[in-house]
Amino acid sequence: MGRVIGDGGCNFELVDVAVHPEYQRRGLGYQIMEVLMNDLRANAPKSAYVCLIADRGAPALYEKFGFELTAPDSVGMAIQF
Ligand SMILES: CC(C)(COP(=O)(O)OP(=O)(O)OC[C@H]1O[C@@H](n2cnc3c(N)ncnc32)[C@H](O)[C@@H]1OP(=O)(O)O)[C@@H](O)C(=O)NCCC(=O)NCCS
Repeated sequence: MGRVIGDGGCNFELVDVAVHPEYQRRGLGYQIMEVLMNDLRANAPKSAYVCLIADRGAPALYEKFGFELTAPDSVGMAIQF
């Protein structure tokens, strides 16, 4: 699974990208990202900012789609309620 959330204009976030452990490392995560990124390219404004928080092991997947680390210029921050 995987989702894009956002305001439909300026800001989007990729969240909940996950493949069941029994099916990982078979290209499914890549296919999920292809669908999400194709949808963003087709529907998001060219100036849109798309971000995500990458868990362990995941940065290599997102780098394949052009995502870059924001540090040191900016760093992610979060709070868990
Ligand atoms: C991250 C996740 C979605 C990847 O899904 P997947 O189906 O296993 O990924 P793919 O088989 O399509 O792999 C695509 C690329 O991602 C990278 N990758 C995936 N799993 C990786 C791992 N455990 N360690 C390092 N790189 C990894 C590799 O670059 C891989 O390309 P390669 O096979 O040519 O080396 C999956 O491991 C997962 O659900 N993890 C638990 C939840 C999670 O961490 N989600 C991400 C939140 S940001």
